Amino acid sequence: DAGKAALKARIRDLLTAQKAVLVAHYYTDEDLQSLAEETGGKVADSLEMARFGTETDAETLVVCGVRFMGETAKILNPEKRVLMPDLAATCSLDEGCPADAFSAFCDAHPDHSVVVYANTSAEVKARADWVVTSSIALPVVEHLAAQGRKILWAPDKHLGHYIERMTGAEMLLWNGACVVHEEFKSFALERVRRLHPNAAVLVHPESPDEVVDQADVVGSTSQLIRAVTELPNPEFIVATDAGIFWKMRQLAPHKILIPAPTAGEGATCESCAHCPWMAMNALQNLETVLKTGDQEIQIDPAIRERALIPIRRMLDFAR
Ligand code: 13P
Ligand code: SF4
Repeated sequence: DAGKAALKARIRDLLTAQKAVLVAHYYTDEDLQSLAEETGGKVADSLEMARFGTETDAETLVVCGVRFMGETAKILNPEKRVLMPDLAATCSLDEGCPADAFSAFCDAHPDHSVVVYANTSAEVKARADWVVTSSIALPVVEHLAAQGRKILWAPDKHLGHYIERMTGAEMLLWNGACVVHEEFKSFALERVRRLHPNAAVLVHPESPDEVVDQADVVGSTSQLIRAVTELPNPEFIVATDAGIFWKMRQLAPHKILIPAPTAGEGATCESCAHCPWMAMNALQNLETVLKTGDQEIQIDPAIRERALIPIRRMLDFAR
């Protein structure tokens, strides 16, 4: 509509005036994803978001996603201004892994390599040997296990358990979970699969074991999007945040996409999975932050320097 078009035009002007670029996650509102693409920014998974920030010559990065994504951008690019539409957009994994308790866990197991998921605070990353995202967790742990290393993993127990099963690595798991992916129900998924026998099942590894066990493809957001474009199946049952459907439809408009059920009853989901913190990003607060410059990520320099080491290690490994 006209109001939205005018709002997008104002944001475009603000981005140009401030030499700013948008970096948006696949779970954010489709208006933000399309605007990022139209203005020379990037829509990506958390690993590609981190890399893009280091490759652009924009002076300001506006990270549309959740707080850890903004923090990672700032850690990698201290000379750039990093804004977010709302700094209060957190993540249940980050919230469930406070730095003090995590540090005590590490102290109790000094003979373990510390591998943390990107969905953590800068303080937690500062305690890690490796940071990983879901697109690279498996090869990193394989690499460490091949060297005979024991692993301390945090915070997502489902992703950790999946990696443990796939690699056979000896892993101690922190007890965290994603409130969005934990809602997928295996029994209801079995019913949807029976109704759609030609569908491939795509699952993000933050989902519970019994859901992961039914997957044809387990992967990060970008890996699940690639599967929709590469597999021959006409239909896909997708167990991850519904924000991902915008990019899947854009790249594979003829494929039928079915959200995996989050409710125990019924064959389809009543309310699709959607992260409440990703939903805090909108065109309105994006315009506001570009005007006011508040909601800027700040990180203590000592923490930043320490957290940079395992993040860089991840980017170098992924190259
Ligand atoms: P990806 O790294 O797969 O984009 O996942 C980020 C995330 O928060 C999933 O819930
Ligand atoms: Fe965190 Fe889950 Fe939201 Fe991803 S979907 S940002 S893991 S709460």
